[in-house]
Amino acid sequence: MRASGLLVYQVLQALKAMVQEGVTTMDLEKAAEKMITDAGARPAFKGYYVPAVGERYPYVLCTSVNDEIVHGMPSPKRVLKKGDVVSIDTGVELNGYYGDSAITVAVGEVNGRVEKLLKVTEEALELAIGQMRLGNRLFDVCGTIQRHVESNGFSVVREFVGHGIGTQMHEEPQVPNYVDPRGENPRLKEGMVLAIEPMVTAGRPETAIARNRWTGVTRDGSYAAHFEHCVAVTANGPWVLTRP
Ligand code: CO
Repeated sequence: MRASGLLVYQVLQALKAMVQEGVTTMDLEKAAEKMITDAGARPAFKGYYVPAVGERYPYVLCTSVNDEIVHGMPSPKRVLKKGDVVSIDTGVELNGYYGDSAITVAVGEVNGRVEKLLKVTEEALELAIGQMRLGNRLFDVCGTIQRHVESNGFSVVREFVGHGIGTQMHEEPQVPNYVDPRGENPRLKEGMVLAIEPMVTAGRPETAIARNRWTGVTRDGSYAAHFEHCVAVTANGPWVLTRP
């Protein structure tokens, strides 16, 4: 999983460096596909069956722009412009093990509240990573994200969640970005790996599905941010597999 995680990291870093006005989300897709296959890995999203949609996802990346939260589809028509934010999410499978990570990147200068949205979402992920310790439970991770986001005046999305990951991309347990008292609250155990992925909006938390039947968008049109890492629980504390 470490090898998969580091490959995902390298791909996201290269894509981040490509992001600028005039680049299309399909340019990012093509570059990602080449990097992943050149590394001898398999793009984990491409062909992945998503039961909620009833179809296989057709791309290597999810590129979700502005009010798009997740499952934005790369397109040669989606030309990035100054003031946009783009979430780039990708996963790979290498030797049977999965890695999955996302970043949200600003295109040029963005307005102050959007800049803060990205900062708070990334901070929420870092604080959640800090909770991935023996003795804690899942709700410590979920609650930390919710508290940081809401205390800063933003909202966490309910309909999309993080997940366990290992020899499958999606494993138990689900990792919501809020505390769902009706949900399971397992103890964190040594060797557990969770894909923690706060999805945060600048406005209301409600979501809708776009006309393409895939893309989760904010109902109120507010901008969204998304950051994700795969994190292992070890006897020595959290180990972020998707960065050096
Ligand atoms: Co994920």
